Amino acid sequence: MIELSNVSKLFDQTRAVDDISLTVPTGELCVLVGTSGCGKSTTLRMINRLITHSAGSIRINGRDIEQIDPQQLRRGIGYAIQSTGLFPHWTVARNIAVVPRLLGWPTARVRQRVEELLQLLELAPAEFADKYPRQLSGGQAQRVGVARALAGDPDILLMDEPFGALDPITRESLQNELLRIQQQVRKTIVFVTHDMDEALKLANRIVVMDKGRIVQQDSPQALLAKPANAFVENLLGGQERGLKQAGLLRVDSLMQALATAAIPAAGPALKVTDSLRQALSLMLWHRRSSLPVVDAQGLQVGVLQLDALMSRPQ
Ligand SMILES: Nc1ncnc2c1ncn2[C@@H]1O[C@H](COP(=O)(O)OP(=O)(O)OP(=O)(O)O)[C@@H](O)[C@H]1O
Ligand SMILES: [Mg+2]
Repeated sequence: MIELSNVSKLFDQTRAVDDISLTVPTGELCVLVGTSGCGKSTTLRMINRLITHSAGSIRINGRDIEQIDPQQLRRGIGYAIQSTGLFPHWTVARNIAVVPRLLGWPTARVRQRVEELLQLLELAPAEFADKYPRQLSGGQAQRVGVARALAGDPDILLMDEPFGALDPITRESLQNELLRIQQQVRKTIVFVTHDMDEALKLANRIVVMDKGRIVQQDSPQALLAKPANAFVENLLGGQERGLKQAGLLRVDSLMQALATAAIPAAGPALKVTDSLRQALSLMLWHRRSSLPVVDAQGLQVGVLQLDALMSRPQ
């Protein structure tokens, strides 16, 4: 779907992006991570031609983007950025409606779409539709920015730290929302973040960049298991790696079913969908080496033993 071959970008003498090759298949959520100034935003902005690449080629669905009219290209690509880029003299509703209107959707459909998106991002339409960007908090403005990126129902989404200004709770709910949208409609997404936990949670594939180059690209599991070098290891949080890895696995991957559990555990219950990281935290907190596991209905279905966590294969 998105294919970068030997792409570089030079700003005067600065090599912002240095000979990167990257393929993002349809439906994949690819996350770019790396320290400040390593070329993440530049990479994203070359894909929708906000920045012209200096060398190499970029193809979308097999077509070289230089052969596509930039306006037309951008209408098919949702773009959300941390600073939101909302038009200050337009209402929230009008800001969200930009692309659907450019695409010539009938008014009623545009209105319906705006309302649907406001609800999706937990902004009550009656309260927010007619507000202006300056009347919004940073987090609310950011959610409007995400709504706008989704509005035209693009196949491709480019997201540059779209949740950066949000509090941890809203951030988590938007991450879950993004994963849910992704499961339902399968967009192809390139997502930039500083936050490795966010990358591990969202990505099918993580691309680690350093000084304009790609240092490693792998699934979250593979990255944690085999970081290519000390830089990647450091980015993964060094000693926190074990916890991050436990964060990727669900309780039901290691629990014993109730029928086979040797001892029925007492104590606070874990949900089958909880992560092993949450399980470990709960065990530490309650000083227990085993906990009961319940399903969505709250019925106990198994037991998780600390031993199982310890003897788990790498
Ligand atoms: N318009 C520009 N003119 C000159 N240099 C630029 C321009 N835009 C970016 N750069 C330089 O290119 C490099 C990469 O910048 P980029 O914005 O892609 O980094 P980033 O990885 O997105 O960083 P951050 O995490 O801080 O957003 C930096 O050294 C930056 O100073
Ligand atoms: Mg950036």
